[in-house]
Amino acid sequence: MSMYQDEFRRSIDQPEAFWADQAKRIPWFTPPSTILEYDEAGHARWYVDGELNICHAALDHHVEQGRGGQPAIYWDSPVTGGKRTLTFAEMRDQVARFAGALKDLGVEKGDRVVIYMPMVPEALVAMYACARLGAIHSVVFGGFAPHELAVRIEDAEPKVVVAASCGVEGDRVIPYKPIIDAAIEQSSYKPEACVVLQREQHAAELGAIDHDWTALVEKAAPADCVPVKGSDPLYILYTSGTTGKPKGVVRDTGGYAVALAYSMETIYDVAPGDVFFSASDVGWVVGHSYIVYAPLLRGCTTVVYEGKPVKTPDAGAFWRLISEYRVKSFFTAPTAFRAMKKEDPDATLMGQYDISCLKALFLAGERLDPPTFHWLDDLMQVPVIDHWWQTETGWPIAANMHGLEPMPTKAGSATVPVPGFDVQILDRQGEPSGPMEQGSVVIKQPLPPGCLAGVWRDPRRFHSAYMAAFPGYYLTGDGGYFDEDGYLFIMGRTDDVINIAGHRLSTGEMEEVVGAHPAVAECAVIGIHDALKGQLPVGLVIPKDGFEGDEVALENELIALVREKIGPIACFKQVLVVDRLPKTRSGKILRKLLRNIADGQEFGVPSTIDDPASLQDVHEAMMERQVGAAHEARQV
Ligand code: COA
Ligand code: AMP
Repeated sequence: MSMYQDEFRRSIDQPEAFWADQAKRIPWFTPPSTILEYDEAGHARWYVDGELNICHAALDHHVEQGRGGQPAIYWDSPVTGGKRTLTFAEMRDQVARFAGALKDLGVEKGDRVVIYMPMVPEALVAMYACARLGAIHSVVFGGFAPHELAVRIEDAEPKVVVAASCGVEGDRVIPYKPIIDAAIEQSSYKPEACVVLQREQHAAELGAIDHDWTALVEKAAPADCVPVKGSDPLYILYTSGTTGKPKGVVRDTGGYAVALAYSMETIYDVAPGDVFFSASDVGWVVGHSYIVYAPLLRGCTTVVYEGKPVKTPDAGAFWRLISEYRVKSFFTAPTAFRAMKKEDPDATLMGQYDISCLKALFLAGERLDPPTFHWLDDLMQVPVIDHWWQTETGWPIAANMHGLEPMPTKAGSATVPVPGFDVQILDRQGEPSGPMEQGSVVIKQPLPPGCLAGVWRDPRRFHSAYMAAFPGYYLTGDGGYFDEDGYLFIMGRTDDVINIAGHRLSTGEMEEVVGAHPAVAECAVIGIHDALKGQLPVGLVIPKDGFEGDEVALENELIALVREKIGPIACFKQVLVVDRLPKTRSGKILRKLLRNIADGQEFGVPSTIDDPASLQDVHEAMMERQVGAAHEARQV
C-alpha cells in the first residue's frame, strides 16, 4: 500500500486514533482526553475538552521556542508603496497590546468583533487579538457593500467593529468609514464601538462611537492569552448560500489548529522558517486559513500582499514577490494566472526574477481549468497542484499530498481525497455512483477536524443546507466524479452559487435584489462562462405590465442596484430585458437551460416547458446582445 493510501485508510477506519496523533502537532494548555464526540444532532465535535489558545500556539509559543527574531509577516503593498517586516516577537507584542485595547472596550471571551479591513498587517493583528481574548471574529471582505456588512453585523451582533480608514484598489482609494457608518445605520443591532486604523491615503472622520487605533493602543496594557476549549468558536465567516441571507460558518479552535498544522506538512510541505505566500484576501477562507493562521502555526513567515496579480504594476508582480521573499510554497486562484496570461502570454516577466526558491504552486477557489493548468505546467519547473475546498471545510478536501507522497497530476482533477475526508459520489436517489459517473459530491460523516461546527445561531439551517439531503453525509454542493484511478474531478456547483474570479457569490441573492426593483415583474440571474473570471452573472428581466420606461435605463438601474446592495465584487454588469422566460408548467424558471444557451451548448426543449417559444425569444435576445457564447448555441 502506498504511504498516502495507508494514511488515508487509517484516517477513515480509526479516526480517533489518527486525529489523536495529529493533535500532538500543536501546543495545548491541556491536551484533549476526548478526541471525538457527537452532539445531539449527530455532528462530530473534536477535542472538546482540550484547552488552548490559537494565538498562543501561533505566536507566543514560537517566541518561547526561540523564533522571536524570525519574520512572521512580510507586508508588501505596491498600491501604497509600503513594505514592512514584523517578527514573531513584534507581532506577539502588537497583538497583546491590541487585545488589551479591545479588552478596555469591554470585549470578553465569546463576544463577537467584526473586522472590515484591507490587506494590512493590522488586519492580522486584529484577528489574533480577538483569538487571544477568546472573542469570535468575523472578517468581512472589503469589496462588499454596506448592505452586506449590515446583514453580517445584524447576525453576528458584534460588540466592536474594527476597520481601516480606507482600502486601496489599484489607483483608487476607497474610504471605508462611510461604508461602515451606512451599515451600522441599516442594522437594527448597534455595536458599542468602532476602532479605526487611520491610513495615510485617507483620514476618516471619527464619530461618537469611534476610536483611533493608535491612541487606543497607546494607553492599553498587553493582554494575556485566554484559554479556550477545543470546541469553542474562533470565528464566523459568512459565505454565499442559495438565498439572500449569507451563512455564518462557525469554525472551532482546536480542530482547526490541528487540521491546519497537519496540512502545512502533508499538503504544502513547508517547515518552520520557510516562507509561505497565499495571494488571497483576509476576507476569504483562503486568507483566514493560509495567510493568517496556518503559516504562523507552522512557524513559517507569511506574505501579506496588498495588490493584484496584474497592473500593480504589471503581470510580473507574483514572480517579484516569490523572488524577493524567497517563497517556498505559493497559493492563488486560477483566475489570477488567467489575468497574467492575458497580459504576458509567454510569461516573459518571469525571466526577470530568480524564483528557484519556489518548490510548489497550489491553486484553488475554482477548478483549475486544463488550459491554465497546461500553461503553468509547461512554464514552471515545480509541481502545479489543484486542490479543492470550501469555506465550510476550512482546509483542502482533495489534493495532491505533496508533503506526504507526491502523485502524478491529471489536468482537471484535484487528485485524491485528503486523509480524514471520506468523499463519495451519490446519485439523485442517494446510491453510490461508479467510476466516471457524475453525481453529488458528499463527505461521509464524521467530517474531520477543522470543518464547520455549525451555522451561527441557526442549527436548522446547518441541517437543511448540508445534512438533510443525504442522511449520514455532508453535502458539498459540488458535482463531480472519480475516474478509474480514484482521481477526483470537481465539475461545478449544483446549486445557485457561482464562482466569479475565485469568489463565491449567490445568484439567488442577486435575484432578490433585482426582483425588488419596482419595475421588475420577474427575473432570473444565471452564471455564465467567462474566459477570465471563470463565471459572470447575467440578469434576465421581465418588466411589469404597463412598464413604459426606457429599457436601457432600467438595465443600468439594476446594475447600479446590485453594486449598491451587494458590492462591486458581484461583477453584475449585464442585464437583458426580455418578454418571457422559459418555465416549467409548475412555474419554475429553467435556469440550467438558460445557462446552456448562454454558454453556447446544445440545448433541447424539455417536455415540461410551458411555453416553448420563450426559449427562442431568450436565445435571440442573447445573440443580439452578444451575451456569453449564445451565438454558438444550437437547439437539438
Ligand atoms: N475593496 C473594494 N472593492 C474591491 C475589492 C476590495 N477589497 N476587491 C475587488 N473590488 C472591486 C474591484 O475594484 C472591481 O471593481 P470595478 O467593477 O469598479 O472594476 C470589482 O470589485 C471586481 O473585482 P475583481 O473581480 O477582483 O476584478 P478585477 O478586475 O479588479 O481583478 C483579478 C481581476 C482576476 C485580477 C482578481 O479578481 C484577482 O486577483 N483574483 C484572484 C482571486 C482571489 O484572490 N481569490 C480568492 C480566493 S483564493
Ligand atoms: P469558497 O467557499 O468561496 O471557498 O468556494 C467554494 C467553492 O469553490 C467550492 O464548492 C467549489 O465549487 C469551488 N472550488 C474551490 N476550489 C475548487 C477546485 N480546486 N476545483 C473545483 N472547484 C473549486
